[in-house]
Order: sequence, then C-alpha cells, then structure tokens
Amino acid sequence: MKSGFVPPAISTCTDKTHEESAVTFTTKPLPAAFGHEVIGLDAEAPIPAETARALYDQWLYSGILLFRGVGTSPEALVNLSRCFGELEIHPIPTFRMEGYPELIELTNKNGPIGPVYSFDGVPTYGRIPWHTDLAFKTTPNAGALLRMVQKTPTGGQTGWLDTALAYDELDAELKERIASLEARYEFCADLSGMRFNNPNGTRIGSGNPNYPDFPPVANPLVWVHPVTGRKLLNISTINLQNIVGMENAEGDALLQALVDHTTQAKYTYIHDWAENDIMLWDNRRTMHCAMGHPLDEIRIVQRSTVKGTVAMGRIIEEAKAA
Ligand code: SIN
Repeated sequence: MKSGFVPPAISTCTDKTHEESAVTFTTKPLPAAFGHEVIGLDAEAPIPAETARALYDQWLYSGILLFRGVGTSPEALVNLSRCFGELEIHPIPTFRMEGYPELIELTNKNGPIGPVYSFDGVPTYGRIPWHTDLAFKTTPNAGALLRMVQKTPTGGQTGWLDTALAYDELDAELKERIASLEARYEFCADLSGMRFNNPNGTRIGSGNPNYPDFPPVANPLVWVHPVTGRKLLNISTINLQNIVGMENAEGDALLQALVDHTTQAKYTYIHDWAENDIMLWDNRRTMHCAMGHPLDEIRIVQRSTVKGTVAMGRIIEEAKAA
C-alpha cells in the first residue's frame, strides 16, 4: 500500500489467539494493489464487538473486503453490514427488497428493470460503468455490501478501483490544478446519456422505473476521506457532466484525462463471483462497475448501504430553480 495511512493495529486469529481473543478472522491481500480477503468469519452468528471493530478498521485500511461463501442469507448480509455503520434505506424505492427494508435486490429474474443495451450485438443486462454510489447526492454513502445470490454462467463480474492510489500517482502539477475544482453531476438513468466513459451500447429496450427527481450537485474533484484523511480523486463516471465554471472543451479534456487515468487496470480489482460471496467497499474511496451478463441469464444480487455521515458537495441552486 503506497500511502502514509497506517491502519489501526488489528488482532488476527491464529490457533492460539482464537481461544484468547474475540477477533475471529485472518486476512490475505487480494491479487490487486488494494483490498483483502477476510477468512474465518461466521456472518450468521452474532459478531462480537471486538471482531466488528477490527473488521471496521480493516475495511478503512483495505478499501474493499471479500468474504467468500459467508453470505448464506439476507440476515447474514444485514448482520455483517451492521459492523460498518448505520444502514441506509435506498432512495430509489423500486429496488428495495420486500421484508428487508435495508436491502435492495438487483436482478432480472422478473424481467429487466431499466433500459436494456446491446454490446457488440449481445443483448446485455446489468452493465453499470465505473461509479460511486449516490454520486448525484451531496452526502455519499460510506460503503455498501453486495451478496451474490445467483450468478450467471456468463459474465456478471464486478470491479472496484482505488481512487486514493489513483490520486497519489497524479503528477504534482495536475494535483495543484484540480485542487479546488468541482465536478457537476446530474442523475442520468440512461447509459447513452453518459458524457464520459460511455460504454457505447445500443439501447434496445426502454422501461425506466419511476426515478425520483434529483437536483444537480457540485462535488469536489479532490476529496479528503472523512475518516482516514487520504486524498481521493473524486470522479464518478456515471452522472458526470462537466467541471463547474468550465463548460468548455478545456474542462471536458481535463475530465477525460482524469477518467482515463483513474480507470487504468493497475488500480482495479475484478471479482469473479461464487454464490454466497460478499464484497464490501468503501464508497468514498473506491469506484465500482458491473460487467453485465447476457439478458437471458438470471442473476440475483442483494445489497446493503452503509449511511454516509459527512457531506461532500452542494446542490447547484441556480440549476435547481430552472
Ligand atoms: C452495484 O453497482 O451496486 C451493483 C454491482 C453489480 O451488480 O455487480
């Protein structure tokens, strides 16, 4: 890890410490520049406070955590999610899961929700380019946990990337240039409306759920992580419109360069799911993307959202009034 952030000391479990400590997991690095796999945790049982605290610290240190095979039920997902903060009810009601207000279910089991695209001639469901959750709001959620309930035979991977590492590796001149700039975000449910990182799919189906109206917001391009203090290259490619005050070719070229830099493979981890895996991410530090899968294959994932507690951006008032 290439930063000055030193993680809080955490106990790890060995045969000996297992009996003496309530911390009941070990970790190993993911095959990426960031992230860890957590081994030996039972998410169905109550999680002791000491273990929950150690998991929380590990999450902040690692950015993403993989828990293989522990997501055996929605209850396990909620139980584990509560280690990381208060859970948030998702602002888009269509996604909420019946009986589990803190969870959303993303699936095509009852047919597609939202527009369907064809990529290279393949009708595809669930493709979501690089983004942070709720970047179109002023207070991003702190994190989220995704549980794979039913995977598809083809595709369906999810990727994460580390915006802290991407920021660290910008040259000093560019860091200075973007230090006080803001990006404007406007909610856009249709991929073909994306101005940057547009995946160039052909829209082959309509069917937008009823999305609430979200006013445009301005978010800083460089944001300091509210807990770790690390600087983050804060761009979420969905909903991204322009640099505030630079609605011109120069601003667009700058954003394009930042998107190209951040989305380099060296900052990413792509997870090839097994059923019951859970992935946890720090939504302030990471972006994630869903690769999508053939429309005729069924995928079911469930997700919890850890509430954000620190505001990052501001509503753009003049656009709101227009
Ligand atoms: C998400 O963006 O939360 C969903 C990711 C996925 O479906 O893989």
